[in-house]
Amino acid sequence: MKPRMNTDKNASRDHLWLQHMSKHIVATVNEIPVGGRKLVEIEGRSIGVFNLGGEFFALKSRCPHQGGPLCEGKVGSLVEADVPGAYTLSRPGEMLRCPWHSWEFDIRTGQSWWHPARMRVAQYPVTVEDGAALESAGWQKGPYVAETFRVEVNQQYLLVEINP
Ligand code: FES
Repeated sequence: MKPRMNTDKNASRDHLWLQHMSKHIVATVNEIPVGGRKLVEIEGRSIGVFNLGGEFFALKSRCPHQGGPLCEGKVGSLVEADVPGAYTLSRPGEMLRCPWHSWEFDIRTGQSWWHPARMRVAQYPVTVEDGAALESAGWQKGPYVAETFRVEVNQQYLLVEINP
């Protein structure tokens, strides 16, 4: 994404966009270990939440190629080669391969490795919130949605934001 200048027009547009975002509690932090993932359904959307070295990323589980269940695919390393046959592996566990036709996507950016400039999978912002903060924010009545969770004060939770 291109960096933008922070103008009043941008701030106003961001405010309008954020007004339409809704946060959903999808897991406790401990539920998704490093290298792990959890598939969730939010308002009819299938979303994969991934833990890369303690950072969390959420991707739409619908491949932009032909709609395959992308987030059910295998994760692996980035494979690069300067010359044929001499490849290197890096960033283990950060590339996601679609189970249908093996297109690969960068979990951190959603970018396709086949056509980085034009093809990417949708991403959703993920935040980590303390149970105490959620409770004091009055999440039951506010914009937070907890479909299946009883929020406990002494836990940390992952929230995914979607635009309904
Ligand atoms: S549907 Fe994902 S690679 Fe074809």
